Amino acid sequence: MQATNIVILAAGNGSRMKSDLPKVLHQVAGQAMVDWVIDAVQPLKPNKILTVTGVGAERVQDHLAGKTDFVIQEKQLGTGHAVLQTKAALADSQGATLILSGDTPLFTTETLQALLNEHSRTKNAVTVLTAKADNPTGYGRIVRGDDGMVLKIVEEKDASVTERRIEEINTGVYIFDNQLLFQALSQVGNDNVQQEYYLPDTLDILRGMGKQIGAYQTLDFSESMGVNDRVALAQANQIMRNRINQMHMKNGVELVAPDQTFIDAGVVIGKDTLIEGNVTLKGQTVIGRDNVLTAGTRIEDSTIGDGNVITSSHLEEAVVKDRTTIGPYAHLRPAAEIMDEAHLGNFVEVKKATIGQGSKVGHLSYVGNAKLGADVNVGAGTIFVNYDGVNKFDTTVGDRVFIGSNTKIIAPVTLADESITAAGSTITDDVATHAMGIARTRQTNKADFWDRMPHKKG
Ligand code: UD1
Ligand code: CA
Repeated sequence: MQATNIVILAAGNGSRMKSDLPKVLHQVAGQAMVDWVIDAVQPLKPNKILTVTGVGAERVQDHLAGKTDFVIQEKQLGTGHAVLQTKAALADSQGATLILSGDTPLFTTETLQALLNEHSRTKNAVTVLTAKADNPTGYGRIVRGDDGMVLKIVEEKDASVTERRIEEINTGVYIFDNQLLFQALSQVGNDNVQQEYYLPDTLDILRGMGKQIGAYQTLDFSESMGVNDRVALAQANQIMRNRINQMHMKNGVELVAPDQTFIDAGVVIGKDTLIEGNVTLKGQTVIGRDNVLTAGTRIEDSTIGDGNVITSSHLEEAVVKDRTTIGPYAHLRPAAEIMDEAHLGNFVEVKKATIGQGSKVGHLSYVGNAKLGADVNVGAGTIFVNYDGVNKFDTTVGDRVFIGSNTKIIAPVTLADESITAAGSTITDDVATHAMGIARTRQTNKADFWDRMPHKKG
């Protein structure tokens, strides 16, 4: 069956998060919680997705722009009141309405589809998704009669001692007959401990109206976790990361320490790539096959080809082609482009620069705003001096150029193919093919100086 409408509740203030960020924008595996909810419902092909926003509405709406429609709940008077705000938008709809919270990021499409199927099979007025929890603290409890039929949902704060012992919890996901939903909502009151209009009260109300209500219990409680505080946020991250890591391992990626590997949703990794523990892969990152990423590597929004060895290095918005060796402790910043078989050694920073095929920048160098050709050798401690405090200037280095150690290259400057710079030079002028640029003062030696040294006096 198909849900005609989907309503996502995201207006609450999330006070238990103790954060300035609206709760549903907190991230799980690199993606806002509410985005996970939208990802899970989109394959259900609803006619309409409505998100109810309130606290931080502008930020939530900016974040979700184009993905859903919005309804504002001015005052946060409870989940039932939140759904009531969609009444005008859904008034004419004769179908079914699926309601979820923006703070339950772990549901899979399969589970939601199973709920929809159960709802259509039973022709209930409402079917609530439930789960058995080892520790049901904080959740609404499903109260069933002696015959096992669902009677109502009771919030923990309103529950009796006996009701609190119930292990079956309300996951906060429901599918309603749309017209009956609004009939029931008009009767929800706020006579409870929190003085809120509770959406779960609609079950009891519909039953009182002589309608058939029901529950579909999912076997996997971990999907149902509602994130109300930072402890649950960390747990949700762990569950989601575990899912993502398992997917990669099944696709042929070797994770040496999956519990300590942090891969965001959407990262693509080719087979036979080996990833050690304490590696973080974030954002829009694509990694090819047969790479090795060692501990401490952090890669964000970057594209990595095949057969590279990246050792304990940080990459941001960088492009690395094939069979390079990078690190340990290299830092690739935005628009760094490392061509095939290039080598970057320890403490090398590259920003907005291309390192040509087979070129080597072995030690302690900064390469910024530069284009290096193939098979260039950059000596230890070379600095591309690209910035005068206001403007950035470019350097062009041809093929097979040999840059001596501790060269300062003051841009803009061009080193032609097969040119050389002498070690310790400060290069301000272009160097022609086969020429050597040398720019340093000659050494003078002062004989018999030892006795004039301060430590020898007095
Ligand atoms: C809710 C359910 C509880 C269930 C649990 C599952 C109610 C009364 N309780 O409790 O039975 O076990 O979810 O995770 O529904 N919201 C609004 N406007 C409001 C209040 C809340 O939009 O006025 C939104 C929140 O942003 C959140 C969702 O509704 O996304 C749920 O609210 P929350 O306060 O987290 O409810 P829980 O106490 O978790
Ligand atoms: Ca919640």
